[in-house]
Amino acid sequence: MNTEPEDSGSVRHEPLGQGESVSASQRWWDAEAPSYYREHGEQLGDVRLSWGPEQVTEAELGVLGPLEDRDVLEFGAGSGQGARWCSDQGARAIASDLSLEMLRIGQHIDQEQGVAPDGYVTADAAGLPFADESFDVAFSAYGALPLSLIRI
Ligand SMILES: C[S@@+](CC[C@H](N)C(=O)[O-])C[C@H]1O[C@@H](n2cnc3c(N)ncnc32)[C@H](O)[C@@H]1O
Repeated sequence: MNTEPEDSGSVRHEPLGQGESVSASQRWWDAEAPSYYREHGEQLGDVRLSWGPEQVTEAELGVLGPLEDRDVLEFGAGSGQGARWCSDQGARAIASDLSLEMLRIGQHIDQEQGVAPDGYVTADAAGLPFADESFDVAFSAYGALPLSLIRI
């Protein structure tokens, strides 16, 4: 991949450092959270671990293995649909995301659904505040993808 800055007229595309990327992602996802949930919430399902737009679910694939009594982390969890499903399967599940607003929507869903992850943690997936070997299973479904930046 070419990482040299590109200059085409008034639009400049530059590689970002980690700090700048995280801060841009956080601002974007905090602002986008309500409309993201309106647009995708039904398709995701409030208590479902869906592996992507094809809507293949963990209930169908079982790639995480047995979850009962396991310590599970979903990072880049959005509103915690996957972690909530893991809790429903008997796991101790933590939902972690960069965006506080995405997690706040998760807490509203918890109240509506009567099932919740065991905790929410706001954190960059590249610097998670957990000790090594805190979890038996860690996963993300399209979470924590870095943004690049276009300056105009
Ligand atoms: C497309 S959503 C995927 C989440 C969930 N599986 C879903 O489908 O709604 C991407 C999520 O990744 C989070 N995210 C982006 N960059 C992140 C980072 N560096 N660390 C943790 N989470 C991040 C965003 O806040 C957003 O909630």
